Amino acid sequence: MPNLLLPSVATILTQRDETPDVRTYALRFRDPDERAGFAFTPGQFLELSVFGFGEAPFCLASSPTRGPDVEVTVRRCGRLTDALHTLGPGDEVGLRGPCGNGFDVDAARGKDLVFVAGGIGLPPLRSLIWNVFDRRREFGRVTILYGARTPSDLVYKDELRDWERQADVTVRVTVDRTGPGWDGTVGMVPVLFDHVELNAATSLAYVCGPPIMIKFVVQDLLKRGFAAEHVISTLERMMQCGVGKCNHCCVGHRYLCRDGPVFNVREITEMWE
Ligand SMILES: Cc1cc2nc3c(=O)[nH]c(=O)nc-3n(C[C@H](O)[C@H](O)[C@H](O)COP(=O)(O)OP(=O)(O)OC[C@H]3O[C@@H](n4cnc5c(N)ncnc54)[C@H](O)[C@@H]3O)c2cc1C
Ligand code: FES
Repeated sequence: MPNLLLPSVATILTQRDETPDVRTYALRFRDPDERAGFAFTPGQFLELSVFGFGEAPFCLASSPTRGPDVEVTVRRCGRLTDALHTLGPGDEVGLRGPCGNGFDVDAARGKDLVFVAGGIGLPPLRSLIWNVFDRRREFGRVTILYGARTPSDLVYKDELRDWERQADVTVRVTVDRTGPGWDGTVGMVPVLFDHVELNAATSLAYVCGPPIMIKFVVQDLLKRGFAAEHVISTLERMMQCGVGKCNHCCVGHRYLCRDGPVFNVREITEMWE
């Protein structure tokens, strides 16, 4: 059982620029025993510290099926993420976790899976997507709908093409505003529902992105017959401790860091009632 209050030291193995302000880091725990013992579920997150600057939560963007090194995809937007973006391979960071509940992967067995992401909402879903691909026979059809503001804001561009080549996988991508070299769909993420056939009776839907996108996508899924329990989202809210101690993320009687960040839409609706 890891001590969730104590950061472990991890080394940056590689970094990859996804967009002008988003970067994916591969991280390895320095201590071989911690590395071997680190277990997590897609949808969980880490508290990542940049020494001298503090710490912040980031979703695990890799899958537990792909070994003990982990990946996080980080958008540069302030003090800590600016500092992180000055680091590179060989530099060290602190990691606490895994925090939160994660997706119930076993509950998805035998279902068709629909992933709907906007912008930097794809990283937590990528963890689950990789997990599903590595246990492919256990799940039905996979549909991935992804959108970003412009073509240069799309993350994991090469992977999106790889995913599309897999059997029984449909990938549709849109951008809010077109840009050089883009000949694909233009419009907000919900326009993609017109480009696919979904079977609400056999499917679970996973939605992650900016709150306004989640709102419209959830409305659309419910209109298409999805039950609120079968639409699952991961919520981001200001967090500090990440382990249910500081009260920063309290909504009703729930701590989003400890009881979430993954909830189905029925739970989310009840929380805000
Ligand atoms: C469970 C969870 C998982 C997350 N996963 C990721 C991830 O995979 N990749 C990623 O890039 N980011 C993720 N975030 C958001 C990330 O934690 C923040 O961007 C980070 O804390 C910013 O730190 P900073 O010091 O660089 O920015 P700050 O200087 O603290 O803030 C810069 C700006 O971002 C806003 N901001 C900070 N945190 C949040 C937040 N949680 N929600 C909305 N606005 C915020 C601030 O209000 C401010 O306007 C996640 C957040 C949570 C709660
Ligand atoms: S972040 Fe401290 S209680 Fe949730």
